[in-house]
Amino acid sequence: MKPSPKVLAGNWKMFKTRAETRNFFETVGDQIRASSVRKIAAPSPTLLDTALQASASTGIEIFAQNVAWAESGAFTGETSAAQLLDLGVKGAIIGHSERRQYFGETDASAVKRALFALSQGLHVIFCFGEKIEERQSGKTQAVIREQLAPVVAQILPQLNSTQLATQAFMLAYEPVWAIGTGLVATPDQVREAHGFIASLIGSTPLPILYGGSVKADNFGGLASLPHVHGGLVGGASLEAKSYLQLHEVLDKATPAQL
Ligand code: PGA
Repeated sequence: MKPSPKVLAGNWKMFKTRAETRNFFETVGDQIRASSVRKIAAPSPTLLDTALQASASTGIEIFAQNVAWAESGAFTGETSAAQLLDLGVKGAIIGHSERRQYFGETDASAVKRALFALSQGLHVIFCFGEKIEERQSGKTQAVIREQLAPVVAQILPQLNSTQLATQAFMLAYEPVWAIGTGLVATPDQVREAHGFIASLIGSTPLPILYGGSVKADNFGGLASLPHVHGGLVGGASLEAKSYLQLHEVLDKATPAQL
């Protein structure tokens, strides 16, 4: 059996200046560098270069929060995979619910971005999850099935053995009602959703992260559930102290095997 992946990914959204970014990595220093947790931070485009330089000794990988589905061209406001790779960026978050809610991202466009990013050598954290009205009307599994159908049909067959071995493609289940609201999903809700997701992806060994109001005090319980391999964390990943606490919790947790 392969070593269990543990992934802590910080989504910094539209926060931080360059000075705050440097300060974060200086505070983290090299204290978690050698841990078995895969450590990721995803800052805004203007901070990527600073983050790459400042993170060198921390062991934290730098991801973007989005990436275009085209190689280059007339796509105002977008950033290409080549531009990210040129900086040294490792991967990108794709399909975050805030991209879907405010900027017109769809399942189809997110899959298009992910396919292109993977083909160019970027790693991908692919986000999906139901809205509150969908959960309340009993449609959670139907929504997850619909969001993951093109992932299962188009992305999984494209993953090569190196991409699987390096965990280049990760899923992040983020119930929309739990993001930034303080309303973390209960362990039972997460267990049920992640079990369902695992059944949809079958035998493909993908890390499945949970996201939505993760904090150091609720992370341990969630990270030890079956089919949960870590977290995609917004608010609680912003301060170095809090990132380190999340890391400590995950480091001690016994996550599911892949
Ligand atoms: P939150 O955000 O941890 O602040 O709820 C999670 C996310 O948006 O990925």
